[in-house]
Amino acid sequence: MTEACNLVTVHRKTGVINVPRIIRVRSHSPSTETVYVRLLLGQTPKQWEEAADALAVALKAERVGVERVRPQVIALIVQRSEPFTQVIIPPDIPADADAVSLRQVYLGETEHGTDWYAPLIGQHWLVAGATGSGKNSVTWMALRACAPLIRDGLVRVHVVNPKGTELNALRPVSYRYAETDGDIVEVIQGFWATMQDRKKVLAEQGRRTFELSRETPLDLLVVDELGAVTGYGDRSLTKGVQAVLPLILSQARALGGSVIGALQEPTKDVIPQRDLFSLRVCLRATSAGHVDMVLGEDMRRRGALADEIPNVAESAGIGFVVKQRSRTPMRVRAAYCDDSDIRELVRVAGWPHTELTTTAAG
Ligand SMILES: Nc1ncnc2c1ncn2[C@@H]1O[C@H](COP(=O)(O)OP(=O)(O)OP(=O)(O)O)[C@@H](O)[C@H]1O
Ligand SMILES: [Mg+2]
Repeated sequence: MTEACNLVTVHRKTGVINVPRIIRVRSHSPSTETVYVRLLLGQTPKQWEEAADALAVALKAERVGVERVRPQVIALIVQRSEPFTQVIIPPDIPADADAVSLRQVYLGETEHGTDWYAPLIGQHWLVAGATGSGKNSVTWMALRACAPLIRDGLVRVHVVNPKGTELNALRPVSYRYAETDGDIVEVIQGFWATMQDRKKVLAEQGRRTFELSRETPLDLLVVDELGAVTGYGDRSLTKGVQAVLPLILSQARALGGSVIGALQEPTKDVIPQRDLFSLRVCLRATSAGHVDMVLGEDMRRRGALADEIPNVAESAGIGFVVKQRSRTPMRVRAAYCDDSDIRELVRVAGWPHTELTTTAAG
């Protein structure tokens, strides 16, 4: 196989063919294998990167990624199959807030054929991916789960929507909503002020931990284009946000505040506090280097080939998360909320609970 891909060397004098040696093979998921290879003298990882397509054909794989491990050793990440060939339809919104558990929010499916859930209460989520990768499908799924609780006053949504598109359907059901730089700073600083008030309320109640109630609802800060807000936006914007966002990320969890941030370029200056996000999703990435920046060290090598997800609409919503216990990446696909699903969520969330109470009483 290496011969067919021009990855062997031939001794000039003796004519002996040198074949690269496989050091070990690891499989961290049903769809990928990682093959560690010792390079031959004179070979460069770049040669293997250039041969990746040929290797994929030779290995009958969907695609092959190449990762430098240490001098002379590379890892071939072989993706055997694509587990997601269909769009995943979101489940119905429960009518009753009691039927929703924010400790287990349905987001889509995993490559193991199981449902993909994540806790939202007391957690922050980071969704990274190139333009068109489907970042907002994760946000919409969280909001669908929250819809009956928003209606009942148990969840308040603070929306930061710098692009002014995509999330603007949320305007009527947002507790606070911002598009312009000035408003964004105000909403994010206001979120922090809410958290500080919450601290006092919990102290008054003699409680150390937050419990979901009308008096102490879950405050959910949804930030689209987190990179613009914290990194490359106007100085007045980023300065105002940088003053409080680290505090929110480090302290809000225990107070009933959660953050969902969507991000295109996961560079360090843009998101210095990656580890404070307990759920990190890496959808299609434009560079191999982005994968570990989002998911953590060695995750691409262990199979998170997010940069190899094809840039086509059929792949939107596909990405990777890290299974915390085993520290291995898992391919996932978020369910897709189309416009009518979004309208439904806004309708459910916006139904005034007073009206519901009257209806129930009548
Ligand atoms: N989970 C999904 N499953 C299938 N298709 C999806 C999914 N999510 C999004 N799509 C499709 O991909 C398109 C782009 O999605 P979306 O606008 O959420 O991308 P984005 O990552 O927010 O991009 P941008 O950074 O440009 O805002 C959608 O219009 C939709 O057609
Ligand atoms: Mg978007």
